[in-house]
Amino acid sequence: MLKSMISFPSSARKSKTEVDMLDLAKPDQIAAAVRSVKPDIIVNAAAYTAVDKAESEPEAAFAVNAAAPGLLAERAKRAGALLIHYSTDYVFDGAKEMPYVEEDQANPLNVYGRSKLAGEQAIGDVGGRYLILRTSWVYAARGRNFLLTIRRLLKEKDELRVVSDQIGAPTSAGALANATAELLRQRNPTALGNARGIYHVTATGHTSWHGFAVEIARLERAPREIRLVPIASSEYPLPACRPKNSRLSNEKLFLRFGVALPSWQACLKACHAELREGKRLDAGASCGR
Ligand SMILES: NC(=O)c1ccc[n+]([C@@H]2O[C@H](COP(=O)([O-])OP(=O)(O)OC[C@H]3O[C@@H](n4cnc5c(N)ncnc54)[C@H](OP(=O)(O)O)[C@@H]3O)[C@@H](O)[C@H]2O)c1
Repeated sequence: MLKSMISFPSSARKSKTEVDMLDLAKPDQIAAAVRSVKPDIIVNAAAYTAVDKAESEPEAAFAVNAAAPGLLAERAKRAGALLIHYSTDYVFDGAKEMPYVEEDQANPLNVYGRSKLAGEQAIGDVGGRYLILRTSWVYAARGRNFLLTIRRLLKEKDELRVVSDQIGAPTSAGALANATAELLRQRNPTALGNARGIYHVTATGHTSWHGFAVEIARLERAPREIRLVPIASSEYPLPACRPKNSRLSNEKLFLRFGVALPSWQACLKACHAELREGKRLDAGASCGR
């Protein structure tokens, strides 16, 4: 779970609450919020993320994931602000054998992916200063995500059947936030804006959902024997198709900014420690060069 923010110049007089209340499905509110805050930087982590529900609610998904980012980009351009926006591995169809690079042809398999791709295109079309950070398999110690679901199920079930034919990089929201902060620390918004474009930003390495669940169970040290059974996607049908290969190459990010995220295992360990100890810990050298 990533949190959106609009950074306030020292002259801004409006309270953060007004931005917290912003409903991205309401175009008028976007214009009013940006006008009143006069931001230097807008970080948009908000999205319609209900991947399966989006299949039956395409208008809602496109309003938040496509129209709103376009409007944010337009307003950011008028305000001279940098827009940082998160996108997804689901813009790809997963047919490639290797990790996807930014220039690879997008071909989303589901409504959510199409709506996120439309958001990327809307931002690009505005032609302002922006960074689109595509990430994958995001989880955190809060919210609703795979990590928290598996933790709960490990306490409730004797056997878990988990998809093993989709691979990607589980990426903690904390590591992603650290990487974003590192970009902002390195360069001012203008310099970052000059590097405008799409960047892939995920934890290092990859695994399957089953591999991710096995590592969660290992860290949890489940007191009883729980069988984790690998299954094919076809054995767990869902309304939205998912790409089989969600791996994203982070080379462009590293070459351009020298930023690399930790391994997915290190990110998970840090998040697990946070859950255990109730406080936030970093995954070691989170954004090492
Ligand atoms: N989760 C993943 O596996 C994944 C993978 C790749 C990319 N991403 C991308 O990463 C970003 C963050 O994802 P996440 O997993 O952190 O999502 P998340 O936990 O579902 O959070 C989405 C946030 O967007 C807010 N939101 C939804 N509709 C809104 C609206 N109309 N107006 C204002 N805010 C609204 C939600 O607010 P409420 O809580 O109030 O509803 C929530 O805070 C998104 O751009 C997503 O597409 C996620």
